[in-house]
Amino acid sequence: MAITITKNPHPLSAEKRAEQLVEPGFGRYFTDHMVSAEWTAEKGWGELALVPYGPLSLDPASMVLHYGQEIFEGLKAYRQPDHSIALFRPESNAARFARSAARMALPELPAEMFLESIEALVKADQEWVPTKDGESLYLRPMMIATEVGLGVRPSNKALYLLLASPAGAYFKGGVKAVTVWISTEYVRAAPGGTGEAKCGGNYAASLVAQQEAAAKGCDQVVWLDAVERSYVEEMGGMNLYFVMGKGKKARILTPKLTGALLPGITRDSLLTVAAELGYKVEEGSITVKEWRKGVESGEITEVFACGTAAVITPVGHVKSAKHEWSHNKGESGPITLELREALLGLQHGLKPDTQGWMRKINV
Ligand SMILES: Cc1ncc(COP(=O)(O)O)c(C=O)c1O
Repeated sequence: MAITITKNPHPLSAEKRAEQLVEPGFGRYFTDHMVSAEWTAEKGWGELALVPYGPLSLDPASMVLHYGQEIFEGLKAYRQPDHSIALFRPESNAARFARSAARMALPELPAEMFLESIEALVKADQEWVPTKDGESLYLRPMMIATEVGLGVRPSNKALYLLLASPAGAYFKGGVKAVTVWISTEYVRAAPGGTGEAKCGGNYAASLVAQQEAAAKGCDQVVWLDAVERSYVEEMGGMNLYFVMGKGKKARILTPKLTGALLPGITRDSLLTVAAELGYKVEEGSITVKEWRKGVESGEITEVFACGTAAVITPVGHVKSAKHEWSHNKGESGPITLELREALLGLQHGLKPDTQGWMRKINV
């Protein structure tokens, strides 16, 4: 497949880049290049183009700016012990990007184009892939509706973009458990809605609940189902796992995908990784009351959230309008840490890749 390459004539100097890589944070700095491709209903997808990173010029009547026809993805490139670079399950992100596109009446980007754009950008900006423990290059594929006009209908023009941003280790100085707020006032997604799609609108609608959680002294929101407001769905931008029991006899449960949850690739990977470590893993359902009672009785021993950005985050304390409880004295539990280590080890090339999930970049 063809990709035209226009190198940035003014890349950041090696010294400035090194300065940014000391503490990259998350989504703060961007690499020297980006990739784009245009689609029209008439001609389909045009060629991929790797170009210098920079602002877009958009007509203010572009449909995305009015009706939010937009989707995105998030995945990471990891430095391996031999200094090569590898992606973790990028085909799964390509597939989810296509499903999100279908839901938002945007064109599906062929998986080969998705993968090729990522390989080209990581190759061009390979010096930006950090080398320190737990760090990575975060990749942000996105697509917007670019037809000009205010009619409410699917756009006949779209723009695919791929950005890259160095990401620091999420937790410095040890994994920190979060405090969560169970939102009964706001819902993230309803049956038939867009919960399964990674579209910007879902995140815009979540911000007020995140503000509410912060006002209650919490770090993150836990979303419940829209109909009964009792089944636990997910946490902020991460899926949830519940550990029942202790040691190798423990059972691990994650809320099943109902159409309202974002089907996380980390969630899916953990179903396999936990089973490989000898745990019984299941996709099921759990209500807030079952969660609270399970903690009270001692059956639920640990709870954690998982996603690409923070890998695995322990949930230490839980608050709702009426109740408050903690797991494992507010600290990370042993199974949470074991799974975190297993997954990070796999992504950073320190553990055998039994499932063929890592895709090396030919630099
Ligand atoms: C709402 C939501 N849930 C879960 C996830 C976790 O998905 P993944 O593991 O693919 O990063 C994300 C992040 O993409 C998300 O935004």
